[in-house]
This record gives sequence, C-alpha cells and structure tokens, in this order.
Amino acid sequence: MRILFVCLGNICRSPTAEGVLRTLAAREAPELPLEVDSAGTAGYHIGEPPDPRMRHAAARRGYDLSSLRARVVEPGDFERFDLILAMDRDNLQVLRHGAPVPAHERLRLFLEFAPESGAAEVPDPYYGGAKGFEEVLDLVEAASRGLLAYLRAQLRAA
Ligand code: 4NP
Repeated sequence: MRILFVCLGNICRSPTAEGVLRTLAAREAPELPLEVDSAGTAGYHIGEPPDPRMRHAAARRGYDLSSLRARVVEPGDFERFDLILAMDRDNLQVLRHGAPVPAHERLRLFLEFAPESGAAEVPDPYYGGAKGFEEVLDLVEAASRGLLAYLRAQLRAA
C-alpha cells in the first residue's frame, strides 16, 4: 500500500500528512504494509525541510517532521503509488493534467477520508497565522484516521 500526499510546496501540508500517517500507522495499525511519501506540484522549496512553523506545531503533537525534505511530483510517481492524495482542488487539478489516464482513478482529495470534518480541502497555511497550522494538523489527523480505517478494510478484503 503506497500512499503519496501532494500539496503545492511540500513544506507544510503534505509533509505533515506524511509524518502524521506514518506515526499513527505505526501506533494504531502496525499490520498495514504501508509506504508513505509526499511531494509538491511546485519546486520553490526543493531540498528544504518543512517550514519551521509547521514543524514546531507538529512537534507539539508528537510528530517529528525534521528529517523530511521537499521534492516535486515526478512522472514515475503515477506508476509507483496506489493512492495519490491531494490537499486541495488546485493541486488535484495539476495532478490530473500531469497523470496518464490510467492513473486518474488513484488521484483523490485527502479529505474524502474525513467526511465528518465538513471540509473538502486542507487550507494552505503558508501566508496565514498560527491558527492555520493547527487547522492543518486537525484535518490531517482526522483524515489519517479515516484513511487507516479504509486501508484496514482493503487489507481484510484482499
Ligand atoms: P504547502 O504550503 O503547499 O502546504 O507546502 C506552501 C508552501 C510554500 C508556498 C505556498 C504554499 N510558497 O508559495 O512558497
């Protein structure tokens, strides 16, 4: 089960999703054969660790994002990953344009796995205040739990 999270810069939302899912899976669903990665649709921050504001907010909830480094989505990602989960509609649209048609069914919005949140998109926190980073964590934690439940069901059905 290979999961790729995608946002714009790969320094706020998608690395948070990568770190949170990895941590929750290790704790709550160690039976899942999971591989998790993240990437951005834009290359402004290639090679950089997650934004310090995001890293610190995540660390306060027990998620260590310090070893992650930003990269851009590459063509091979559309072959390699079973699910490619975008943080918002703009990035989903960019993925749809770049992906070969057979990969389109593997492109989704991450918050489809958190229907109870009432949100469809994880808002970009980059130009906002501290509350935005907490909101990213709230939404990402909810959707990660929903995704783990979905993946457990997939594993049982396999
Ligand atoms: P992300 O946030 O897509 O969640 O990583 C952003 C990071 C950087 C920029 C925009 C959004 N930027 O314009 O540099």
